[in-house]
Amino acid sequence: MNKDWWKQSAKNIPNIITELPGPKSGVMHANASKYIRGLSSQVKQFPVAFEEAEGITMTDVDGNRYLDFSSGIYVTSLGHCHPKISGAISKWTHKLMNCHDFTTPVKEKLLEKMDGVLPGSLNSIQLYSDGSSAVEAGIRAARAISGKHEMISAFRDFHGKTMGAVSLAQMVRSDVHSYGATRAPGFYMVPRPDPYRPLFKKADGTIDTDGYIAFYKTFLQEGTVGNVAAFILEPAQGWGGSIFPPEDFFPKLRKLCDEYGILLFADEVLTGMGRTGEWLCMDHWDVVPDIVTLGKSFGNGFPVTAMVVKEEYAEALDKISASSSYGGNPMACAAALASIEVIEEEQILENVRTVGAHFIKRMNKMKENHPIIGDVKGKGFLLGMELVKDKSSKEPFEEAGALVYKKAFGKGLAWIPAGHILRMSPPLIMDEKYADMGLDIIEESIAEVEKEFGYK
Ligand SMILES: Cc1ncc(COP(=O)(O)O)c(C=O)c1O
Repeated sequence: MNKDWWKQSAKNIPNIITELPGPKSGVMHANASKYIRGLSSQVKQFPVAFEEAEGITMTDVDGNRYLDFSSGIYVTSLGHCHPKISGAISKWTHKLMNCHDFTTPVKEKLLEKMDGVLPGSLNSIQLYSDGSSAVEAGIRAARAISGKHEMISAFRDFHGKTMGAVSLAQMVRSDVHSYGATRAPGFYMVPRPDPYRPLFKKADGTIDTDGYIAFYKTFLQEGTVGNVAAFILEPAQGWGGSIFPPEDFFPKLRKLCDEYGILLFADEVLTGMGRTGEWLCMDHWDVVPDIVTLGKSFGNGFPVTAMVVKEEYAEALDKISASSSYGGNPMACAAALASIEVIEEEQILENVRTVGAHFIKRMNKMKENHPIIGDVKGKGFLLGMELVKDKSSKEPFEEAGALVYKKAFGKGLAWIPAGHILRMSPPLIMDEKYADMGLDIIEESIAEVEKEFGYK
């Protein structure tokens, strides 16, 4: 397969030829809105209707063409409609779409392939069709494996919108969709390290990982009933703003979990399958979790997700049924298998590392030149820039984030809405030329916003 399959359609992007939303989008969205409610802030801000997409290019119904800087929503990571992946799905739409949880040739191949790319003995697998269901299965698995029931998660992590998943996150956030709910019994949250805004600091002001670990020990003693099944975290926070922990955090947390007999559950729905330049984000720290969830990039846009535990816990999975109406259907397995093969065949991990380093270098330069960029963060293609009113006070600059998002989208950058942290998750096939193109748009938008707010 020619690695440059996406470049032809990317010629002359972005190209915005109408006001946004354009006239056709406006009418279409107004009609759809008679029926559908609860749309994301992203859609509310720019109610455009998309018609088609290929590679890194998205086109709306008015013919406006955008540079994709969000991979859908961290999902179409190998490019929209990758020919190999679309072809693999298409084959099974004509051959066998569903046969419950019976084995199929494509499922057998996928499971073997996953065993090959996941670290350690992570090879006991259940397949689902959305990330939240995989997280719920992980909670069930943690309880079945340990015989314990309490769960610890971290501030500002996100794990989905089903009832167990919302109990792992902050519940007042409207986007967590927990309207009127209370946290399930036995679910607790603790702070996690953010190097730019450390809660526990060393004398020199830098983050003190040991301070967090010591706090967790105290919390286990004082705040739980000593029946903790799992510690569940995003390896790096996606929705929280591309925030990565210090390098020593997960090795130290692994040690703590082992010491206390607690399972380590890494929710890699957003970070897994190449997004950060490794198969799993946890691979950066050579830490093998006991439970992992995969989604989003796993099927490059096709709804397929997985919950995986270490081989030594396989028997416990017999206690929690894996069967669901759609989980592991042949189209889903074909999408996931083809996606893994594309990552290997097109040396995607290498591209993510190289172009990811370029992103960070360029963003650091932008930080030097712009008074409102307080911090640059990320690994691979999970990237962020934190906007502040003042670099010494670090006061979050929410209004600037919202405005930069709006301006850049208006210039044809299809990306994820921001609070004070600008978030970028481009398709992993992107090269430096298009990386710079996206950053040029963002930098221009930041400069305009700085001017409007009276900086420089
Ligand atoms: C880390 C993480 N876990 C779980 C989910 C939920 O996945 P889904 O939206 O497919 O249910 C998300 C979605 O953004 C996520 O980012």
